[in-house]
Parts: sequence; C-alpha cells; structure tokens
Amino acid sequence: MTAFKTGDPTTLNRLYGRQSGHKLRAGQQALVEELLPAISVPEDGEITATRLFGPSAFGERPLHFEIGFGSGEHLAYRADMLPDHGFIGCEPFLNGVVGALGHVRDRHLANVRLHMGNALDVLARIPDGALSFVYLLHPDPWPKARHAKRRMMNKGPVDLIAAKLKPGGEFRFGTDHPVYLRWALMTMRGRTDFEWLCETPRDFLQRPGGWPETRYEAKARQKGHEVWYFRYRRRPD
Ligand SMILES: C[S@@+](CC[C@H](N)C(=O)[O-])C[C@H]1O[C@@H](n2cnc3c(N)ncnc32)[C@H](O)[C@@H]1O
Repeated sequence: MTAFKTGDPTTLNRLYGRQSGHKLRAGQQALVEELLPAISVPEDGEITATRLFGPSAFGERPLHFEIGFGSGEHLAYRADMLPDHGFIGCEPFLNGVVGALGHVRDRHLANVRLHMGNALDVLARIPDGALSFVYLLHPDPWPKARHAKRRMMNKGPVDLIAAKLKPGGEFRFGTDHPVYLRWALMTMRGRTDFEWLCETPRDFLQRPGGWPETRYEAKARQKGHEVWYFRYRRRPD
C-alpha cells in the first residue's frame, strides 16, 4: 500500500490553519458527542468500503474521498445524490465538522464517514486503487511563496491521491485563487498518471454538473472572484 511519507518535504505531515472557531451551542456539542463517534473513520487499520459500510448488494461500492470539506455542503450533496456509494470526508476544523454532522442528520445520510483531522493520514490507510473520486475544493491557498510547501497541491499529496484512485477514477479540484491556480497547473503539468478532462476553456470556467457550490466558492463569487474547475482522470499505470 502506498504510505504517507512523513520525511518527504513536499508532503504535508502536519496541519496548518485553525482547528476551531466560535464556541459550539448545546445542540452542536451534542452532535459532536453523539453522532461524530458513530460515523467516524476507525482510528487504525486499513479503510475499505466494506469495513465502513458493510457489504453492498450492488457489487463493489464506489468510494469517494473529500479533502477539507469545510462545512460539508458538497459532501452531503454528493452523498445524497449517490446513496449506494460510500463517502469519506476529512476536515480538521471543528466548526466545519459540526456543519457536516448537521447535513448528515438532516438528510439521513447513511453513506458518510468523517475524520476530524488530516486527510492524508486517512488517505494513506486506503488500499491503492480503491477510490472512484477524490475532491479537493478550494484548498487553503497559502499564497506566500515561503508557505508553498503547505499547499495540498504538491507532489507528495498528489502522488498519494494518484495511488489511491482506481484507473478511470476522477480527481476534482477547484480554486478561486490565481496563485494557487498557477501552482496547481504547474504541479499537474507533466504528470503522465492523470489526464486533464478539458477540451475547451468552458470546461474549466463553468461549474460542471453534479458539482454543487461550496460555501467558500459562494463567498469567493460574492467578492467578484473568478472560480476555476478541474477534472482529472486517473490513467492506468
Ligand atoms: C478554504 S477552506 C475550503 C473548504 C471547502 N472545501 C469549501 O470549498 O467551502 C479549506 C479547508 O481545508 C481544510 N484543510 C486544511 N488542511 C487540511 C488537511 N491536511 N486535511 C483536511 N482538511 C484540511 C481547512 O480546515 C479548511 O476547512
């Protein structure tokens, strides 16, 4: 299994950014204490769709993985749309996790598992070639050059994403940040393991179907930012 190489300078082996915000209300605290343990990714061992969701009546259950789901709107939308698929969402920010828990409760989503922490720790425990989709939507831009190694779009994390996607699986990435856009294009350029699914500029300028607006994207648009959407297909080795 492709592991998460902690010594690799292009791999994020620690978390950057805030992990909690405003104090939780009683109802939110109850969600963290009661629902979160019930739908958390197990703390150790290999992570498979069967382990998380049990056997599927429809053959192998496709597995989706979202890195940094924010408040979980996209994760919940996708999970609601694809009830026979399994969804793993990772987010270290407590108040965001509470948002996702609220969606899971309100929409009665039985196909979502969460990890409050570093997505790469969980990704490393998934068997190679097991994922059908990986989502990275508006990752923290870390615009200063000296913080570039903190960006999720770096060789180490993208190698890990490539290892975990099955051939034909899809990596979706979105950003509204021009510095991050250039950095991401540089990171993906020259990779032979991904095919950029783009035929005309429209493909990266218009939100593709089945890709709902996230909270962060809505804020970016309110500020007048342009948003770019990328879909990469994992090529067979
Ligand atoms: C700018 S926000 C975007 C949130 C959401 N994807 C959206 O579009 O609304 C980036 C998120 O990535 C999360 N994040 C940062 N590092 C992470 C990591 N190593 N693993 C998982 N999430 C991470 C942050 O906590 C933050 O919520």
